[in-house]
Formats: sequence, structure tokens, C-alpha cells
Amino acid sequence: MPPAVEIVPVRSADQMALAYAIRRRVFIEEQGVPAELELDQDDLSALHVLAVADGQSIGCARMMLRPDGAKIGRMAVLADRRGRGVGRAVLLHLLTAARQYGAKRAYLHAQIAVEGFYLKSGFQPVGKVFDEAGIPHRKMILPL
Ligand SMILES: CC(C)(COP(=O)(O)OP(=O)(O)OC[C@H]1O[C@@H](n2cnc3c(N)ncnc32)[C@H](O)[C@@H]1OP(=O)(O)O)[C@@H](O)C(=O)NCCC(=O)NCCS
Repeated sequence: MPPAVEIVPVRSADQMALAYAIRRRVFIEEQGVPAELELDQDDLSALHVLAVADGQSIGCARMMLRPDGAKIGRMAVLADRRGRGVGRAVLLHLLTAARQYGAKRAYLHAQIAVEGFYLKSGFQPVGKVFDEAGIPHRKMILPL
């Protein structure tokens, strides 16, 4: 059985560095997103989380609380740890946090290739496909 995954809020610079390292591997190295687009101003205000298994950080995500809802982004699980519920655990943790903060809905810009992942947690696509960092995306929304 794979080790249990714990989702922890990022509270230190060291933890933030671990989240950035995962994002670098997944978005910049694996998906070819330009480094200057991967890091942005939202990182300064977002709530960041890490997925930790057996003492190793294997996934991350961030969430920004905005007037129109909680925007989730930068969801990433290391390639060799996918398909075992880590992404879902991260997403559910953020949705619980969003409800606790009083957000009325969660939304995100889903890569078309992973729409199915978000559909399984109840998100619905809205609007047209658009380009973000050279990758087709569509907005998805979940009322909370
Ligand atoms: C998207 C991502 C975070 C999913 O993480 P994961 O740990 O592999 O997902 P889980 O194992 O928790 O999957 C939960 C469910 O979604 C499904 N799922 C996962 N990835 C999917 C995909 N690409 N398409 C359709 N369904 C998918 C799983 O089969 C599982 O379904 P089940 O409930 O029937 O078992 C991960 O694939 C990833 O990091 N991808 C690269 C980065 C990326 O594209 N991030 C999203 C940016 S919008």
C-alpha cells in the first residue's frame, strides 16, 4: 500500500522552496512552461499547500481568495506519484479551506488534458477554451 499522504499548509521559506521545486519539475521541465510565467505575483498572497508522503514532498497547489471566489491553481503531483489519490487529497483540502474562509465558490483554469480530474471532484467547465502559457485551458467552477 502507498504511504498515507498528509496535506500541510506552507508556513516557512523552506516549505515554499519545496513547493517551487515541485512546480519547476512539473510545469517548467515536464510541460515546458516558461519560467518567467510560472512564478507570479499571486504567489505572494496565496495560501500554498504541500502533499507529504513518508517525509517527502510530492505535490503542491495554491489558492487565492478573491471577491468572486477561491481561485485554485498550480496543482502539481510528481509524475511518478500520480494516479494514487494525491491530487484529489490536495484539492479536497483546499476546498475545505475555501469553505472555512467563507468562499461561495471555487474556480480554476484547468488544462484541457486534466479536465477529467476536476470533473471527478464536481467542477464544471464554463466558457471557451483559451491559451495560457501555450497550453489550452478552460475555466471550471464549483459552487461551495
Ligand atoms: C492533475 C494532477 C494534479 C492529478 O493528480 P493525481 O494525483 O494524479 O490525481 P488523483 O490520483 O488524485 O486522481 C483523482 C481522480 O481523477 C482522475 N484523473 C487524474 N488525472 C486525470 C486526467 N488527466 N484525466 C482524467 N482523469 C484524471 C483519476 O483517475 C482519479 O479518478 P478515480 O476517482 O476514478 O480514481 C496530476 O496529474 C499532475 O500533476 N499533472 C501535471 C500538472 C498539471 O497538469 N496540473 C493541472 C494544471 S490545471
